[in-house]
Amino acid sequence: MRTELLSGKIALITGASTGIGQATALLFASYGARVALSDVNVEGGEETAEEIRAAGGSAAFFKADVTQAGDVEALVAATVERFGGLDCAFNNAGIDGENAPTGECTEENWSRVIAVNLTGVFLCMKHEIRVMLERGGGAIVNTASAAGLVGVGLGVPAYVAAKHGVVGLTRAAAIEYAKQRIRVNAVCPGAIRTPMLDSAIKHGLIPEAALAGMHPVGRIGETREVAEAAAWLCSDASAFVTGHAMAVDGGWTAV
Ligand code: NAI
Repeated sequence: MRTELLSGKIALITGASTGIGQATALLFASYGARVALSDVNVEGGEETAEEIRAAGGSAAFFKADVTQAGDVEALVAATVERFGGLDCAFNNAGIDGENAPTGECTEENWSRVIAVNLTGVFLCMKHEIRVMLERGGGAIVNTASAAGLVGVGLGVPAYVAAKHGVVGLTRAAAIEYAKQRIRVNAVCPGAIRTPMLDSAIKHGLIPEAALAGMHPVGRIGETREVAEAAAWLCSDASAFVTGHAMAVDGGWTAV
């Protein structure tokens, strides 16, 4: 008998309207999860949820801005109300921010990037953990970055700081809740072909060939490759894995 990796799981995914989050929502559903999708981009989220339902899966979209505590609390409550609980969460919403080195980084840019990429993850975890404690366990996966493991001198200091923060928060919460059977891990993608990356290439942040060359495998990654890592970390197959920041980066941070 074949059992799907996430069969019977209820999963919440933020930043699910495009890119890595969208690919993860589609993959989780194909692995048998019931999926709550969330984003500030309503159109892409609704379309993705509809695509899952059309394929016979179970999905609902809920709009939420992860920087707003009230939105996040309502999102988690709506997920529980709609699906009856919460087993897995992929806290993935993020932005890259403006391109300027530290001495030229505006306070507005700093605050915005930290708000979405770090505080947003914290707010999601805070409310997800409460539900998971009531249910006796769960699995949380946060999207950090290769730029959460090593420094990157591409003029995105707030992004690098936020992603290092996500790795630290992941490790702290993993230890705090290990006994209560809540596992907390992070994925740390290298450059992945998504609208965010396309925009960075278009704005001349870095040429595509140079970006590909930063990865020992010699190419940019695909969204599905990050989604597969998130699916495994959310599944019972990784029951002994917690507090781990998993590089999905074609060897970038191994150099
Ligand atoms: P993307 O731009 O395609 O998707 C990000 C999603 O987050 C969008 O749908 C956007 O609407 C949503 N979002 C932005 N601000 C939000 C907010 N305040 N509240 C709720 N949703 C919000 O980007 P991509 O590439 O799929 O990024 C997903 C995650 O992966 C981000 O955390 C990013 O930092 C991370 N990442 C991406 C890499 C890449 O090369 N694409 C590399 C390493 C990490």
